[in-house]
Amino acid sequence: MEVVVVERPREGVALVRINRPEARNALNGEVRQGLAGAFTDLARDPEVRAIVLTGNEEAFAAGADIKAMAEAGAVEMMLREAHRLWAPIAACPKPVIAAVNGYALGGGCELAMHADIIIAGEGAQFGQPEIRVGIMPGAGGTQRLTRAVGKFKAMMMLLTGKPISAREADAMGLVSSVVPDGEVLETALTLAETIAGMPPLAARQIKEVVLAGADAPLEAALMLERKAFQLLFDSEDQKEGMRAFIEKRRPAYQGR
Ligand code: CAA
Repeated sequence: MEVVVVERPREGVALVRINRPEARNALNGEVRQGLAGAFTDLARDPEVRAIVLTGNEEAFAAGADIKAMAEAGAVEMMLREAHRLWAPIAACPKPVIAAVNGYALGGGCELAMHADIIIAGEGAQFGQPEIRVGIMPGAGGTQRLTRAVGKFKAMMMLLTGKPISAREADAMGLVSSVVPDGEVLETALTLAETIAGMPPLAARQIKEVVLAGADAPLEAALMLERKAFQLLFDSEDQKEGMRAFIEKRRPAYQGR
């Protein structure tokens, strides 16, 4: 059984599914390699315009595999270079939607936060419980979480390790929307299909500017936005989109 399964359920949409149910989808080396490989391939595939990342009904992912690191030392952890396996997910130029049911804990919550949109089931739980096993988040949990929800909500989660419900996550801005558990994947796929129908270069520029701009001074970020905005006027899809509007027809975007 593959621990990371890639499917093409809709036109322009790839579905990446973590499939390690016996361990609540804990992220061991094999899962990490599988995710890195999948995102590397999908980033290059012109047929793919949006990606849905999911787990199963019980768990999106229950974090890094504790059993695989319980006896490790610092040098061994350094040599594992886990950050290299996160990099293709973080650098994915295409819109990524996390469809979260069940547990999104530790590295699982960090994985969800690598996505651009998070659709959560009502029963989903988000948390950074690393402190409870003697460590701290190591894949962006202290940084992406704080940027998403602010210092005081983040500190509460990070210092207590206590998980929060999907509704609480929604209230603090950690998810995009909450839907009934049975509708999570369908909602995410429908959303991905809608986004896949958008001009891919515009989607790519939006993602790049939002992410890069969030860490830049406002003036520099606004300049990034301006340049990306201007750049799109050299795309065929900009001509197609505006002409289709004027001619009152549906646009057909080519990704050029
Ligand atoms: N690592 C390794 N194995 C895990 C795991 C994890 N993170 N989470 C669950 N499992 C395993 C359990 O050990 C158990 O295996 P066995 O059947 O062999 O005993 C199996 O999955 C089922 O787990 P439970 O019996 O515990 O299932 P549950 O439904 O009662 O509880 C849970 C589910 C609340 C997710 C609980 O398993 C749990 O608390 N897991 C650990 C969560 C955690 O601490 N995550 C942070 C990890 S550190 C990290 O992620 C670092 C980082 O920033 C990168």
